[in-house]
Amino acid sequence: MKAAIVYQSVHHKNTQKIVEAMGENPNVDIYTVAEAKEADLSGYDLIGMASGVYGASMHKAILDFFSDFTLGENQKLFIVLTYTVHYANFEAKALKTVGADKQEKYIGSFGCKGFNTFGPFGWFGGAAKGHPDDKDVENAKAYIAGLVK
Ligand SMILES: Cc1cc2nc3c(=O)[nH]c(=O)nc-3n(C[C@H](O)[C@H](O)[C@H](O)COP(=O)(O)O)c2cc1C
Repeated sequence: MKAAIVYQSVHHKNTQKIVEAMGENPNVDIYTVAEAKEADLSGYDLIGMASGVYGASMHKAILDFFSDFTLGENQKLFIVLTYTVHYANFEAKALKTVGADKQEKYIGSFGCKGFNTFGPFGWFGGAAKGHPDDKDVENAKAYIAGLVK
């Protein structure tokens, strides 16, 4: 199985760290949204959409890209997230935004905490300090290895 992950990582490159670790797997290629717009993703079995969570939502650039993207007949979709607290069903919300075809082909998600210095969090040195940490990276690698095996 081959996977492509399309990501947007804007705050502390937390999502980028996780996605790059996943991209070390020989069966995984990673693309920024800008790169994905120029790429042919038709040869992949699995497509990942990845970003931090901003205002309880995945990044608009990712939601816009996937709203416009049509999955191939046999392609499946997964989600990769970094966040401070998984207090809402971010995945369900994102899937609702990107379309019914994606919901049918959704196979699951990987998520972990990501350092957050937005607004009041920054006043106290930030939340989820140190994340993604080595354990998060290890978990991310194990997750993707399980998907592409
Ligand atoms: C503007 C903004 C809004 C955020 N809103 C949320 C939120 O609603 N829920 C949450 O759990 N984390 C929130 N966070 C924290 C980010 O999801 C977290 O830091 C994430 O790892 C950022 O990923 P990135 O470095 O790849 O951009 C927010 C961060 C920013 C900058």
